[in-house]
Amino acid sequence: MKDKLQKIRENAIAEIEKSDGLDKLNEVRQAILGKKGELTAVLKGMKDVAPEDRPKVGQWVNETRSAIETILEAKIEKLEAEALKLKYEKEKIDVTMPAERGVKGNLHPVTQVTNQLTDIFASMGFEIYEGAEIETDYYNFTALNTPQDHPARDMQDTFYLSPEFLLRTQTSAGQIHVMEAKKPPIKVVSPGKVFRSDDDATHSPMFTQMEGLVVDKGITLCDLKGMLEQLVKKIFGKETSTRLRPSYFPFTEPSVEVDVSCFQCGGKGCSLCKGTGWIEVLGAGVVNNKVLEGCGIDTNEYSGFAFGVGVERIAMLKYGINNIKLLFESDMRVLKQIDDK
Ligand code: PHE
Repeated sequence: MKDKLQKIRENAIAEIEKSDGLDKLNEVRQAILGKKGELTAVLKGMKDVAPEDRPKVGQWVNETRSAIETILEAKIEKLEAEALKLKYEKEKIDVTMPAERGVKGNLHPVTQVTNQLTDIFASMGFEIYEGAEIETDYYNFTALNTPQDHPARDMQDTFYLSPEFLLRTQTSAGQIHVMEAKKPPIKVVSPGKVFRSDDDATHSPMFTQMEGLVVDKGITLCDLKGMLEQLVKKIFGKETSTRLRPSYFPFTEPSVEVDVSCFQCGGKGCSLCKGTGWIEVLGAGVVNNKVLEGCGIDTNEYSGFAFGVGVERIAMLKYGINNIKLLFESDMRVLKQIDDK
């Protein structure tokens, strides 16, 4: 019996040594220690052993079993360590390899120009106010001294949601909210989307405006002109200047259309300025006393100016874009070209 066990043990050790994978080891374990294994068979045969010999034989079997198990465990550990080492080797990273370059996006041109404008205004001490895109008829028109029969109130220009609510047609609606909430001195700009039923190469039903409002003691058209001079120099270059032309807005009196000297030809006349040397950039004016009074501001003490810039228009002029649709089609070939921060 002892010899038999010795044989089983030697055979097991040889088989374990030969095994080169965890699966193979498992097979060996089954063949020897498993239910139908060699050593298990010996245990099952104990009933044929003389009762007085059983303790001794039992002890031999147990010794054999634990010896085999110890060797088996050691081999498993060794194989696992080797597998881990191999895995580490395979996953090794060469930190000296050049990194893969990710695709870098840039901000949309309208966002870029909005940011440039807000930065300029913030540097001049303006606060930012963002109004709502859905407005009431009162804030968008009535409070801005736009009488019921004014062409700007025509259904064709305005997207009405109900007789009372509409999609704001101008960021000027924000002026009223600001003046209702705040006492002068007021110095705010209000960027945001506006909506008009208008659609051609230079107009889109949705576009972006930036409204400016200054209300303080002794504010005149000269303050507006002085501020605009600074503004256009920062946007279009140091050599540019402005000129004011008379215009009409219900909420400003006097009202002006602001032109910038052509930054492409320097004023000599070219295709961009259509030979005039000047390019129209925004509408502005001295805030109509009716508007100030409607917001409870004493016009004996205070006056103000306001202006409204079309952001897409500035972007088109700055980046030489000839169709406003290019700004809304999200064509990467177009957008990629404009990275002006
Ligand atoms: N709200 C006017 C427009 O949309 C622009 C403007 C703003 C004019 C402020 C004067 C003062 O055309």
